Amino acid sequence: MKTDLKGRDFLKLLDFTPEEIAYLLDLAADLKDKKKKGIPHDALRGKNVALIFEKTSTRTRCSFEVAAHDLGMGVTYLDPSGSQIGKKESIADTARVLSRMFDGIEYRGFGQERVETLAKYSDVPVWNGLTDEFHPTQILADFLTAREKLGSLRGKKLVYMGDARFNMGNSLMVGCAKMGMEFTACAPREYFPNKGLVATCREIAAQTGAVLNFEENPAGAVRGADIIYTDVWVSMGEPEAVWAERIAALSPYRVDSALMAAAGENTIFMHCLPAYHDANTEIGRKVGEAFGLDSLEVTDEVFESDRSVVFDEAENRMHTIKAVMAATLRH
Ligand code: CP
Ligand code: NVA
Repeated sequence: MKTDLKGRDFLKLLDFTPEEIAYLLDLAADLKDKKKKGIPHDALRGKNVALIFEKTSTRTRCSFEVAAHDLGMGVTYLDPSGSQIGKKESIADTARVLSRMFDGIEYRGFGQERVETLAKYSDVPVWNGLTDEFHPTQILADFLTAREKLGSLRGKKLVYMGDARFNMGNSLMVGCAKMGMEFTACAPREYFPNKGLVATCREIAAQTGAVLNFEENPAGAVRGADIIYTDVWVSMGEPEAVWAERIAALSPYRVDSALMAAAGENTIFMHCLPAYHDANTEIGRKVGEAFGLDSLEVTDEVFESDRSVVFDEAENRMHTIKAVMAATLRH
């Protein structure tokens, strides 16, 4: 059966079948190839998209903007302070206003219920550019990168180190379950994903052949891993006060060269970015000085090593976001 995603929202991977996710990855690979060869692919000329960011961004915003331009579309960016959303106008009213003007709407913000409400009241496709719970466009980029580096996804082992309760841990667990992979969350047990989502993913895994593991011991967890993945220990929207507790709990889960060696010779390192791998950021320096650390979730040595594919992932954000817009926009 031919996959058709026209008119669909892209809010979380739970809403998509493995075949639909594979279709988006194939489309992204095709669009990437066209871009590299200079073949125009501006089939959405004349369309317009709105990008709402209630949290800051480099990759996601730039990916949506460049992808929209490549597809021939106009873009309007609404920054965290530049719109009425939530302050003077509800999400539901915003959705009904914007869907009279635009052909698609991206939203990055806080609770998942906000993007779900936006989609409910919008007549045009809505795309999740990150919420506290999920970051689905990031997973498409990660999986395109993994496919490029490892050849395929099925059966591949991804170990997620660190706070697995937030958007990246949740979304990677769902993505791995959908695509028949082996997912391991490695963290102290209070940092494991919530039980309801784990139960849902176990049901998916029973259909796809995926395996889900929850481990507290880093050296044991990473043995035989194809991918070691980590993310920041404190996410956007969380108070600064949680750094002390996170550093105490998660320092044993920092990705360093010894952990990469324990994993295997061909294991690749992934990170959604931005990353605190050195003191060249305001927060990295401040937190590093306060706690006497020169890196946080990943050492500079691993980040800069030839096992690290983080900038391939960053590039693939653009190609995969382009695929999401091209697949779902009505034309
Ligand atoms: N990975 C990611 O979403 O990056 P930005 O916060 O820069 O968009
Ligand atoms: N967990 C991070 C992901 C950034 C892409 C955050 O939400 O800040």
